[in-house]
Amino acid sequence: MNILLLGGCGYIGTALTQILLDEGHVVTVVDIMWFGNYLSKHKNLLVIKEDIRNPEKIPMDNIDAIIHLANVANDPCGELNSKVAWEVNVLSTMRLVERAVQHKVKQFIFASSGSVYGLKDEPDVTEELSLVPISDYNKTKMISERVLMSYQDNICSQIVRPATVCGYSPRMRLDLSVNMLTMQALVNGKITVLGGNQTRPNIHLKDMIRVYLHFLKNGTKLSGVYNAGFENISIIDIANKVAGHIPAKIIISESNDPRSYRLCSRKLLDTGFKPEYCVDDAIKEIIGQFKSGKLKDEDNCYNIRTMKNLKL
Ligand SMILES: NC(=O)c1ccc[n+]([C@@H]2O[C@H](COP(=O)([O-])OP(=O)(O)OC[C@H]3O[C@@H](n4cnc5c(N)ncnc54)[C@H](O)[C@@H]3O)[C@@H](O)[C@H]2O)c1
Repeated sequence: MNILLLGGCGYIGTALTQILLDEGHVVTVVDIMWFGNYLSKHKNLLVIKEDIRNPEKIPMDNIDAIIHLANVANDPCGELNSKVAWEVNVLSTMRLVERAVQHKVKQFIFASSGSVYGLKDEPDVTEELSLVPISDYNKTKMISERVLMSYQDNICSQIVRPATVCGYSPRMRLDLSVNMLTMQALVNGKITVLGGNQTRPNIHLKDMIRVYLHFLKNGTKLSGVYNAGFENISIIDIANKVAGHIPAKIIISESNDPRSYRLCSRKLLDTGFKPEYCVDDAIKEIIGQFKSGKLKDEDNCYNIRTMKNLKL
């Protein structure tokens, strides 16, 4: 397939690009490269440094499917400059899907977020539950979903609501819970847990990629909204798992982030998808990459630090 991957230089996008190429797809990556570009050259890969806020500059001729990951990608960055977050995450998504319809692109896959649910007490947070987004980031995801749904008669779309992703990528993010706590244990020999009792769903990066491949393969049969998260565990459980691999002291301090929810991904499982990796796999991978010297604790691995440095 000819795939347009928006945000292909990010944490998920970098790893996804490699797998798409390995599977024989022809890939065009468009990315503003806020965090650099760690993609390796490949005969079937075209990389374009561009801002999705200029959709007319994004080539869509002969594209079969678009995977859209190019967003301001967490709460602190959304707060840092909410105008940029709304322009990139919502306005640009609307203009991109409009353009995709004009170019007769068959499929549009959008990375929303499991955080659109906000605080939920239900044991099974399914796709039908109400959305109560708390932060600007969460709100931009919810509104983008609505925009995409309004085009459902014109283009097949899958809206994925992923859990927090964990595991190693050449463009690493250490501001994601499992990755962050593992790095704290490696560098400081201690893990600081904020609150700790909040339950959060997790998904391994390799399974996240497999979800996107699953939607590419089963494409037009499966339009709709899908949760994608499999291990609902508390932050303190994650810290204990990390401490099971690397001896580290766990320090609990007050949290300013009350979000707590359990994602139920039964709908995705019912389409035939099966997760293959877990949080422990991610912790082991990160330890291995750190010990080999490939992974370092650098500012660039924390989105908010990079965005502040870029004065966005
Ligand atoms: N990582 C997670 O745990 C997680 C969980 C739920 C949802 N998501 C969503 O998945 C997507 C990818 O996440 P990620 O972890 O790879 O984040 P990331 O920040 O590593 O990647 C996002 C990429 O998009 C690019 N980008 C941002 N704005 C752009 C613009 N205006 N024009 C062109 N490129 C732009 C960035 O340069 C970056 O390379 C995001 O939409 C994020 O909200 C991620």
